[in-house]
Amino acid sequence: MGFPEIRPRRLRATPALRRLVSETEVPPRSLVLPLFVREGATEPIPVPSMPGVVQHTLDSLRKAAVEAVEAGVGGLMLFAIPREKDAVGSAATDPDGILNVAIREVVAEVGDASVVMADLCLDEFTDHGHCGVLTAEGDVDNDATLERYAQMAVAQAEAGVHMVGPSGMMDGQVGVIRRALDAAGHTGVGVLAYSAKYASAFYGPFRDAVESSLRGDRRTYQQDPANAVEALREVALDVAEGADVVMVKPALGYLDVVRRVKDAVDVPVAAYNVSGEYAMVEAAAQRGWIDRERAIRETLTSIRRAGADIVLTYWATEVARDFR
Ligand code: PBG
Repeated sequence: MGFPEIRPRRLRATPALRRLVSETEVPPRSLVLPLFVREGATEPIPVPSMPGVVQHTLDSLRKAAVEAVEAGVGGLMLFAIPREKDAVGSAATDPDGILNVAIREVVAEVGDASVVMADLCLDEFTDHGHCGVLTAEGDVDNDATLERYAQMAVAQAEAGVHMVGPSGMMDGQVGVIRRALDAAGHTGVGVLAYSAKYASAFYGPFRDAVESSLRGDRRTYQQDPANAVEALREVALDVAEGADVVMVKPALGYLDVVRRVKDAVDVPVAAYNVSGEYAMVEAAAQRGWIDRERAIRETLTSIRRAGADIVLTYWATEVARDFR
């Protein structure tokens, strides 16, 4: 017999063979769509650095939520841009604050047909743009911030959220939120923890989307991109503190972290395909430099292959509806 005897190419010869042996799928139910709503907006406002993404009005938000649910998308993650920002992010805990209003309206619209989640962080609500409240010296005050997160979690739960998504990378945030929810009788509200969240340049377009006023950076609380073992420590702490789902963010530069986390925990693992990852593909596709649809499919498949059970992506509705 000649060489090679073993020919892996045999299984790649036709679309039917490739389909039969494919290891990874991106089912719509595994996708979560992030959505932005802007207080006072009278029409959807395009986000220039995220072609195809808008700051919604409450009306268009409800419609986008319904569209996503009808396409089979597994969940929604809400972000809001308040009209007024202040030092402590008051709008975040106000029952009539835009994010809490948006939660109420989306839950009223889609009910239990979707999992409605909300970002639990102060950066959209503070005038200084940091994820927490500041000390007199201008550092982010971990423990004072925890008190605000606890109040924010309860406000979101009262608005009807199914899961809160703490994304501020404060120490102890999951434990404090879990206790506050339980103490207020919201034992059924889950925590999707942004456990391993890196200080990333790939959040740039998101900061346009939420009109972030941040000067400086978040390196004293978000993780150093150089570290993976530290991610396992963060994840273990969040699981111990009661996280129902843990998340790695961003996704593409951190697929090794996604895999290590997946192998280390027994809760579902999410990964956030962030704004900069979205913008790179859209920008290159606009220039005709890459095949947009193939790049999107490959991106999401890679994140799933790395071990993500759940993928947050701005392409969720389109992929669920149009990619067959
Ligand atoms: C914090 C938050 C951020 C993102 C999600 N939640 C920004 C940050 O930490 O600076 C980024 C999401 C993206 O880039 O798509 N509220």
